[in-house]
Amino acid sequence: MGLVVGPRLSAAGGVVISGIDLAEHLVPEARARIIEAFRDHHFVVFPGQALTRERQYQYARNFGEIEPHGGGGSPDKRYAVAHVISNLDKDGNPVDRSSSPVSNYRWHTDKSYHPVPPLLTMLHAVELPPSGGDTEFANTLMGYAALPEETKRRIAGLRVVFCWGASGGKSIMAMREDPPIDHPLVRTHPDTGNKALYLGNHAWHIRGMPESEGAALLEELLEHATQRQFVYAHRWRKGDLVMWDNRCLLHRAVANYDMGKYRRVMHRSVVRGTVPF
Ligand code: OGA
Ligand code: MN
Repeated sequence: MGLVVGPRLSAAGGVVISGIDLAEHLVPEARARIIEAFRDHHFVVFPGQALTRERQYQYARNFGEIEPHGGGGSPDKRYAVAHVISNLDKDGNPVDRSSSPVSNYRWHTDKSYHPVPPLLTMLHAVELPPSGGDTEFANTLMGYAALPEETKRRIAGLRVVFCWGASGGKSIMAMREDPPIDHPLVRTHPDTGNKALYLGNHAWHIRGMPESEGAALLEELLEHATQRQFVYAHRWRKGDLVMWDNRCLLHRAVANYDMGKYRRVMHRSVVRGTVPF
């Protein structure tokens, strides 16, 4: 087996795995090594992959149940096997949506507004702008660990109320029916027992605290958690497949290319997780 696990990419995590074709059946040893690398480094980059959406789905199935994409858009975007995320409008023209309060350009962890948020997300880079279009990851295990002990004590046991669109205010929230739900602000990683902050876009306020006070605490913690020393920026190359752990990372798309001009098309799979504790 030619699988090679590279060195850790940054303090925040990340590792490149080469010598494997994800379009082929995944043998148990390779699967075990990927799971181990994922647990230890939080996001894994597989360069040079040529996968159909069907093959991507088959690969993603190795890690659990695949979640269908609930969001709006064309039937093509909602395709159940692996869906498409892009900067294209319904006519296929590039558009800049980066200023939307619900955009991927804000720090978030996927579907945190769901009662059972996903374990991992994978993106396969199909079309990229000539440069830029990066994705940044912030390691929230590091963010938690770096908090003063006094803050750790103060936030222990707090629960974050998440609601889709919360940062956009009531009018945006009214666009969808997702009721507010809550999760622990300090999440225990189920595979390692380590604690991570759980927050980001769609985090609204803190259960049992005045709304503005909770929102201010969340903002302060988000600022802390996304300092440069906890962040890694992935510069995509066509064919990269990246899978990341939504339980201990925040991520965001970076608006560092001309979104109204160049196409950026990714195929996305989301694997179901467990109830945060
Ligand atoms: C996502 C996401 C960021 C990007 O797919 O969940 O946030 O860089 N993507 O496309
Ligand atoms: Mn996302």
